[in-house]
Amino acid sequence: MKNRRAFLYGATALAGAWMANGLDGVWVDGRSDQAIAATKQNRASSGARSLRERAEAKGLLYGAAVETRGLSETDFADCLARECSILVPENELKWARVRPSQNQFNFAGSDRLAEFASQHQMKFRGHTLVWHGSVPAWLTETATSRNAEELLENHISTVVKRYAGRVHSWDVVNEAVYLGSEGVNGLRNNLWHRLLGPSYIDTAFRTAAAADPNALLVYNDYGLDIDDDEQNARRARVLQLLERLKSDGVPVHALGTQAHLWAGESRFNPTKLRQFLRDVADLGLKILVTELDVVDRNLPRDIARRDRGVADTYRAYLDAALDEPAVIGVLTWGLSDRRTWLTRSRPRRDGAPVRPLPFDSQMRPKPAYEAIAAAFDAAPDR
Ligand code: G3I
Repeated sequence: MKNRRAFLYGATALAGAWMANGLDGVWVDGRSDQAIAATKQNRASSGARSLRERAEAKGLLYGAAVETRGLSETDFADCLARECSILVPENELKWARVRPSQNQFNFAGSDRLAEFASQHQMKFRGHTLVWHGSVPAWLTETATSRNAEELLENHISTVVKRYAGRVHSWDVVNEAVYLGSEGVNGLRNNLWHRLLGPSYIDTAFRTAAAADPNALLVYNDYGLDIDDDEQNARRARVLQLLERLKSDGVPVHALGTQAHLWAGESRFNPTKLRQFLRDVADLGLKILVTELDVVDRNLPRDIARRDRGVADTYRAYLDAALDEPAVIGVLTWGLSDRRTWLTRSRPRRDGAPVRPLPFDSQMRPKPAYEAIAAAFDAAPDR
């Protein structure tokens, strides 16, 4: 077994190094097809383990955000089941999708994803119970300071109870920190904050805990990754919120750090990231990397060089993050370039299709795949 593992690591490391170093001869035509084909060959011949297996070998979860439409594509569904040990609905559990009207819950999409996870021995996580995004018009029109708490509690209780005992974790509150001028003491003045004040956060977590005592309850946020004034301040405010929640006995169990990264970002400071994650862990919290992807907008058009820059960004971030034992899992926000929010939200100026995720649009593993795999292999055991 040991020899086999050594062979596997050797072969994979070689492929990984080869991909990451991008030996110029390999990239001479600027296409990464050969490299991707070689990875595929290397993985097939070496019986390489999946991201799921390589993460599990270190006591970690690896998974992805998925939309139901992906389950209808055989190649995507096969890859999802093979490579992931956890999935999260990208949109199906947001208010606008799950609650089309006050008296109607629509769980068709999330049930399908939960069923797929169950069939493939995958964990299922929920996203998200409270957010300023994906708010249906009926809620904005209906909610008042008098009925807001009941509306919030009824929604959370109904949705969480549906999956109680079958869910790994919930993003209970998403993106509550906001340091701009419209914020209030560093909190986003979202619908719930306007109607209930900051205690909406406490209410959300307490309601979710009552509905499913076994779920890991997560506070999820973005912009916690690099060393610049804004994100340094965001990390401090998130930490302050978590400290306040913990000191008030609010049942928050983990931080979700979204980690929407940018390739070519010079301000990534692994020391600062490590310290932040350690400070979170010192509160007794676990950590999930919840929405990892890498924007390639600022990289050259050449696919080989872009794939390499994206891979290097994944590796640098994960090497730092996975050093923190409180980090229990990593989810990418999507699995394949075939479908990513970045196509519309962070398009390239040259119009070239974006390439932010571990698999290309034909479900072939990219250098990013090798980088994530190598980071799992290098991670300390949990
Ligand atoms: O499904 C409809 C389609 O029927 C319709 O034709 C089309 C018209 O535009 O809209 C489609 O719905 C879109 C949905 O994505 C599915 O693709 C919504 O308009 C669009 O707003 C929605 O965007 C999602 C966004 O959150 C807002 O909810 C993105 O897919 C999703 O990746 C993004 O994810 C967020 C996380 O939840 C929180 N963290 C940030 C992250 C990125 O913004």
